[in-house]
Amino acid sequence: PEAEIGLIGLGVMGANLALNIAEKGNTIAVFNRTTEKTRDFYDNAGDLAERIVPCETIEDFIQAIRPPRPVIVMVKAGDPVDEQIEHLKPLLGDNDILIDAGNANFRDTMRRFETLKDTSLTFIGMGVSGGEEGARHGPSIMVGGTQDAYARVEEVLTSISAKFDGEPCCARLGTDGAGHFVKTIHNGIEYADMQMIAEVYGILRDGFAMAPKEIGKVFEKWNTGRLDSYLIEITAKVLAADDAKSGEPMVDMILDRAGQKGTGRWAVIESQMMGIPATGIEAAVAARSLSAMKEERERAEELFGLPDNRAMADEDREKVIDALEQALLAGKIGAYAQGFAVMAGASREFGWNLHMPTIAKIWRAGCIIRSVFLDEIASAFDETPDAANLIVTPKFAEMVKETDGALRHVVATATSAGLPVPALASALGYFDSYRRARGTANLIQAQRDFFGAHGFQRVDDPTDGQHGPWGGTA
Ligand code: 6PG
Repeated sequence: PEAEIGLIGLGVMGANLALNIAEKGNTIAVFNRTTEKTRDFYDNAGDLAERIVPCETIEDFIQAIRPPRPVIVMVKAGDPVDEQIEHLKPLLGDNDILIDAGNANFRDTMRRFETLKDTSLTFIGMGVSGGEEGARHGPSIMVGGTQDAYARVEEVLTSISAKFDGEPCCARLGTDGAGHFVKTIHNGIEYADMQMIAEVYGILRDGFAMAPKEIGKVFEKWNTGRLDSYLIEITAKVLAADDAKSGEPMVDMILDRAGQKGTGRWAVIESQMMGIPATGIEAAVAARSLSAMKEERERAEELFGLPDNRAMADEDREKVIDALEQALLAGKIGAYAQGFAVMAGASREFGWNLHMPTIAKIWRAGCIIRSVFLDEIASAFDETPDAANLIVTPKFAEMVKETDGALRHVVATATSAGLPVPALASALGYFDSYRRARGTANLIQAQRDFFGAHGFQRVDDPTDGQHGPWGGTA
């Protein structure tokens, strides 16, 4: 057998990952259920075809790889992964490594680890971020599995990953589901970033009636400052593009109904299960769900009309644009702080020992949320590894102090004008609640005790189960 590695599933991500692997000097066997896809892939591989072994049957595929075989599976998350594992199990030999590189739910990954643990097969659950371009030229790679398993594929994985200042954006983050969990939180943060950007776009479009190209210029400028990031960069490009068919700005021709495949929702579900707030991600997932209710929204607009947005027109546009830049940064701080807090919680719960500086570092290049900002997060966690929350690290506390006024102004102004800013507002609400030593849950406790004798602790006596003078409660 001539191939050092194999890959199953030649969809967009799989095909590009295979080309990336071949380009780094590895011979790779490829297989796809639909043979035509395998042939097309091979025919279009150009010079790289000499390092690609196209296989038409799964048996040929296995035969083409030198044992112990690393086999990357890049099929649709969910049942197709289990089906693929079932097919492969009898064919793979001692010490072969099966790497699920799709967007798996980490709970499925944990279950797969459990099912395969008594076989001679080694399993790795690997999160890969970066879309088509990343897969082809260097994604960010988040690995879950044993040290031994990782050691056997580390060289090839680091060679295909993105590099930040020469450092590979690839790491083993923990055992079993750790890689897929971290990828899920990455995607949750991606949702929050995208939603906050969309909210800012909404303020400029609906509050100031700016044209897409003008708005694009604002993002282009921001991309040279503290918001410098892939998502801001592509937003500027998207807003500058015209539709070939109508000649209109492309964004104006796209239906305002967002898709979602589940990772954002899983991030929220897991954060809720652990009792760690991730309000930015929640707001972003909810906004996508609400966006999908297009017909309902159309009927509601007929019923209620749109709010008067004169509040916005009275504002100095340039000043608001400056405030928006700061507000977006403040909103990001909130969403990332939450995402990292959720990962810290999961690390404790699942015994992963996740290393926050490493996660921030491997997100600095290759992935969808790559940014200058992540380099700042990496150094903040490096300096204060035990911080309870990103926003209390000295570096970020300063940034919050600098930007929270702008966030407050933006949320207040947009809200007065009836422009929805749920994710930005979530960051503000989170910060305002987090920074307040005496909150309002004393009243919640009193209510719980009143209707259900649930008991409370007193400020002058922290014993559990004390009751108020409401009668009926003993
Ligand atoms: C990435 C992306 C990638 C994919 C998401 C999008 O990191 O490369 O997150 O994994 O684009 O699955 O998810 P939605 O379809 O749910 O937006």
